[in-house]
This record gives sequence, structure tokens and C-alpha cells, in this order.
Amino acid sequence: MAVKMKKEMVLVLDFGGQYNQLIARRVRECNVYCEVHPHTLALEKIREMNPKGIIFTGGPNSVYGEDAPICDKAVFQMGIPILGICYGAQLMNFMLGGEVSSAPVREYGKTEVSFDATGKMFGSLSDTSVCWMSHTDYISKPAPGFAVKAHTQVCPVAAAEDPDRGLYCVQFHPEVVHTREGKRMLGNFLFQVCGCRGDWKMDSFVETSIRELRRKVGSGRVLCALSGGVDSSVAAVLLSRAVGKQLTCVFVDHGLLRKNEGDEVEAVFGPNGPYDLNFVRVNAQNRFYERLAGVTEPEEKRKVIGEEFIRVFEEEAKKIGAVDFLVQGTIYPDVIESGLGKSAVIKSHHNVGGLPDYVDFKEIVEPLRLLFKDEVRAAGRELGIPEKLVGRQPFPGPGLAIRIIGEVTEEKIRILQDADAIYREEIANSDMEVKPDQYFAALTNMRSVGVMGDERTYDYAVALRAVTTTDFMTAEFAPLPWELLGRVSSRIVNEVKCVNRVLYDCTGKPPATVELE
Ligand code: XMP
Repeated sequence: MAVKMKKEMVLVLDFGGQYNQLIARRVRECNVYCEVHPHTLALEKIREMNPKGIIFTGGPNSVYGEDAPICDKAVFQMGIPILGICYGAQLMNFMLGGEVSSAPVREYGKTEVSFDATGKMFGSLSDTSVCWMSHTDYISKPAPGFAVKAHTQVCPVAAAEDPDRGLYCVQFHPEVVHTREGKRMLGNFLFQVCGCRGDWKMDSFVETSIRELRRKVGSGRVLCALSGGVDSSVAAVLLSRAVGKQLTCVFVDHGLLRKNEGDEVEAVFGPNGPYDLNFVRVNAQNRFYERLAGVTEPEEKRKVIGEEFIRVFEEEAKKIGAVDFLVQGTIYPDVIESGLGKSAVIKSHHNVGGLPDYVDFKEIVEPLRLLFKDEVRAAGRELGIPEKLVGRQPFPGPGLAIRIIGEVTEEKIRILQDADAIYREEIANSDMEVKPDQYFAALTNMRSVGVMGDERTYDYAVALRAVTTTDFMTAEFAPLPWELLGRVSSRIVNEVKCVNRVLYDCTGKPPATVELE
């Protein structure tokens, strides 16, 4: 994101949490300029930056771990207000003489929290609120000088403060939307505690990016791997607006797309579509199916698809010849979930890290690297991309392969494509006011006994997934109407061969992830 006036700033010190950029984004939403830096940032640098406040992020470590990330203790004496979140809260307490222990029960997800709703930071909150928790350790005794401001059934110290020193800590995650009053808490910290004015404004992402891309690319040639999903589509249109026909988009059809999707992508981005770019479609289905034969382990599948994708892409790029820039539609959640800094690796997203070795390019361009999904859509709308495309559900790079548990075969792909098309069609035609943010069918690796027309069947079970989320970092399962589920189930078992059972996945993220693999 571009920066305009750097008058007052808040510093986010990154201790490896999954939500570090989300914290920064929430701060920016309050019109306060904010930067994320590693927890190792030197005290001298912090002094130079002169932040109005500091936020410690969460992180996967325990303060007792060998590699536990820490900070210079002198930061607590700088007179700058500090808010510690999750691991950041535990660390602050631990370094200042409090006790951190392993919680008797791990708290995950929405948790009821009781507040002592007084003071600048917690004063305007409800006495009881719902907050998002995700922790193993907890603060068992606050550091000297700290007063306990909140607790849960499990956590004796869900929040604490030492207002005289300007130190605040919360075990839960105020930056996550599921924390009902999270925005207010962050606002309290920024405005009541730190005394921020909130007069910072972000430049328009689209205008700034087009300007920057033009400057960077100049008269160079640009190559883009287009998948037809929201991210690569927005990246491609951004580039096409910036440099027009200097851009070539290569669309690799790996045969793991949704039903008819390859043709739909071609209709939009191909020569008959509205965009000014060069479009190349590669039909590489068989190559991918051959490579995937016998592969069952999820990470292995992702790796195989990523590698083959790169190989196909390289071959195509060789035909195009030397280019100056390679575009990737990487967005922020892809970056952190693939293990940036000290965050734990959850999944290796196929559009990250796998740079082609042999494509002749000078530099990589990732114009969406700092955006969350909803921000990508907003940028797409600002670019005038039709709602049908911008509002499209996210679709993972490895495609249906990570929605088929176990080995991927052509038969399974056909089953899943048909079941998924029915599910999506029924949701599209339903009168639900708000549709789930992502919904799809998956093919379990389970076959079970059924009966059809007096005959015994032994067929696959399809799982239906639907989640609501704003940023895909956390998600809740969507409570779809029974009637709709019944209709989808009945259509799938009747219209799709080799399926005799339909299941509904009612888990959130965490503990599940959105995709099944
Ligand atoms: P998970 O399953 O990680 O999904 O909870 C979160 C969001 O990311 C999408 N996803 C991917 N997108 N390449 C992508 O481009 C991938 O390898 C990948 N894996 C998951 C998923 O569809 C959801 O929107």
C-alpha cells in the first residue's frame, strides 16, 4: 500500500503471528499510518521512527521456547504506549516479571470474555463480550503493576493493563472480525491511549499501482500467469491498464478447473474479450493427470502441480522469448500461510515461492502482495472489472486436486466437477440474501454402501463446504438452509454417477482450513 503523509505512526512489532498484516490493516482503517517491522528492530530505529504507539503481534512460540522471539526490554521504558496481543501479551508480562504457563485447555475460536470495563482502553466495552482466541499458553499471573481487566472460564488474565506505564495486553485477537468489539478496542488504544488524531489517508491503490507499474516496467515486456481467478485476473487487468499490449498472459489449463471454466476464462481474456493484452491458452490436462497418478499426500500433490505448472509455463515462455518482468497474483494470505518470517507453515500455496528457473525474466512483479482478498476485489471494482469476475469465489492454484482427498483421477475430477456445478448452480439460484464467501463441493476418499433402484451401491461421498469470512485467515461454516442442502443432495445423487451420499462440512477455520488439503 502506498504511503502519503507520514505525520503520526504506529509501529507493529512482528513476533511471527499469522495476523500481523491484519493488525496493520485495522490500524490503517482507523486512518492511522502504520508499519510492520520484525521484533528485532533496534531500539535506536524505534526512537527515530518516534511512533505514537507500539503493538506486539501474536506468534506461534511459547515464551519458554528455545527460539522464542523477544525484544529489547528497554522498549518498555521508552514512555511509548504498548499493546501486546496473544504471544505479544504473554511476552510483555513474562519480561516484566509475570507468569506464563501452559493453559489447562486450549481456547480456539469465539470465546466469552468478562471485562472490567473501566479506564481508557477497556472503558467503553460491554461487561461481557465475544473475543477470538487461539492460544496454548496463557498469562497465569500478571506482572507487578498490572491490573487484570478481563478473564474467561479458562484464562485468569484475558486482558491486563498498567496505565501509568502505558502498557496493555490482551490474550485474544482484537484484529480478527470475530472479536465483536475488537475494532473499538484498537480504536481505544490508538485514540484514547496513544492520542492519535487519525488524519492519515491512503492513496488510491489502483492509481498508485498503475503509476508505479508504468514507472517500473517502462517499455519492457511483461509475462503473466493467468488462472482466471480473482487474484491473477485483477493483477492482469492492472498490468494491462498500465502497459497494454506489452503484457502477455499465459493461461495453463491443468484440467483441474471447475466445469467449463477453461472456456469461460478464454471468453473473457481471449481475443474476443474486452481487454487489451496478448492471451495464450495451453491445454495441458494430460500432463498433469500423468504426474498426479498415484500421488495421495496433500503437500506432495501441491508440489507436483506447482512443479508441472512451472514446467509448462516455462516451455510456453521460451516460445515467447525474453521478457523483462514476470507478474504473479500473490496476495497477502498466500504470503503468510506459506511461511513468511517466523509464522508456522500451514500450507504451501502453489503460487508462492515456485518461481520458474528457466523463464528469461529480470524481475518479479507482485502488485497485490500486500492486499487481502476483499481489498483485491475492491481494486478490481475500481478497475472496472465486471462484477461477475470480481465477485467470483477464490479458487486455489492446485484447483480441484486439493478438493479430492487421496489420488486424483480423471473419473474423480469428472464426478467432482459435476457435483460442484450443481451445488454452485443451486446456491446461485437460491433466494439467500447473502451468499457464503466461498462454497464448493469436495470429493472424500470414502465409499460407502447405498441403495438405488433396489440395487446395492458402493459409491463415493461428496462433501459440501460453505464458509463465511472477510479475509480467509479465519472462517466460519455457513449455516445453509436445510431445504437447499436437501435439494443439492438429491440432485447430486440423482444426476452424478458414482455418488450415493452427500455430507455437509460444519467446521470453521481454525481448526479446519477452507480447502480440504
Ligand atoms: P485454506 O484452505 O488455506 O484456504 O484455509 C484459504 C483460502 O486460500 C485459498 N487457497 C489457495 N489459493 N493457491 C491459491 O491460489 C493455493 O495453493 C491455495 N490453497 C488455498 C482457498 O481457496 C481459500 O480461499
